[in-house]
Amino acid sequence: MTKKTIFSGIQPSGSVTLGNYIGAMKQFVDLQHDYHGYFCVVDQHAITVSQDRLALRQNIRSLAALYLAVGLDPEKATLFIQSEVPAHAQAGWMLQCVAYIGELERMTQFKDKSAGKEAVVSGLLTYPPLMAGDILLYGTDLVPVGEDQKQHLELTRTLAERFNRKYNDIFTVPEVKIPKEGARIMSLADPTKKMSKSDPNQKSFITLLDEPKQLEKKIKSAVTDSEGIVKYDKENKPGIANLLTIYSVLGNISIAELEQKYEGKGYGEFKGDLANVVVDALKPIQDRYYELIESDELDRILDEGAEKANRAANKMLKKMENAMGLGRKRK
Ligand code: TYM
Repeated sequence: MTKKTIFSGIQPSGSVTLGNYIGAMKQFVDLQHDYHGYFCVVDQHAITVSQDRLALRQNIRSLAALYLAVGLDPEKATLFIQSEVPAHAQAGWMLQCVAYIGELERMTQFKDKSAGKEAVVSGLLTYPPLMAGDILLYGTDLVPVGEDQKQHLELTRTLAERFNRKYNDIFTVPEVKIPKEGARIMSLADPTKKMSKSDPNQKSFITLLDEPKQLEKKIKSAVTDSEGIVKYDKENKPGIANLLTIYSVLGNISIAELEQKYEGKGYGEFKGDLANVVVDALKPIQDRYYELIESDELDRILDEGAEKANRAANKMLKKMENAMGLGRKRK
């Protein structure tokens, strides 16, 4: 049986958070053995908000190194940078001509990011068709993402179906894959909000490159409640529920077992142990990252990735152009 295809992307718009890791990257590593995997540093998505040129360049390289450091195997999966595969922008444009303005305006991420702003760049609105292009170019069957991308994935499916009906039936309509645990890791400072790399409060998120001392500090200062009981109750104890989720995923232990382990014990001991679990989980990732970041190996892997991705994407791009009647047929 031929292997199915997965595609996913992460924006190089700052540090990679524990939310990105638990919600997305960890799934990539698990799935790479059974699927053809395409994993992308989506730098063209990152410029929908303003970026410092040098910082962006650095974040692109850093994210690529982290993809590998968490365990992606370049022999199995294709790792590449979006702007090095021009078909993405081309497919994105064609899909903008399939998407309706109304449906783009209804995207909650667009509403959140544009709220209260006077000058909103149009790329923020047309971001979902570019994302649809990313996915559809590879005949993707499955897209592993965190919960916040669900609405964009639903739109991708809608655009694929609309294109198939209107032009020609060329796209696979992809399924979304959201992890059972950790689909939405919450902010440490406000556990009713998503953990986000763009949060101005540094203490609200953990990055994969935080040093052990920082990790300990951030976890110890994580907002909880005054009840003092380690129990999973998302509604009433969102802070503890979030920490339990992180502990469970990174420590490979069920939430029920954790509740038992910390019965009658306070938050201090629980947080201390969690800090150790997080430090132990991130240590091998950080070691590998620092080996890779300045290496030629990373450039070689990204060159090969771009070559493979260009080959696959250009084939689908041709089909899209044929379906829409773009360009010409030679006489
Ligand atoms: P981005 O860069 O915001 O996030 C990358 C991935 O991390 C997940 N994630 C989280 N999961 C759990 N808890 C959190 N707090 C958390 N924060 C982020 C996201 O759900 C995502 O899976 N639009 C995408 C990038 C993209 C893409 C694509 C994804 C562009 N093209 C094609 C999949 C397929 C984004 O902004 O992700």
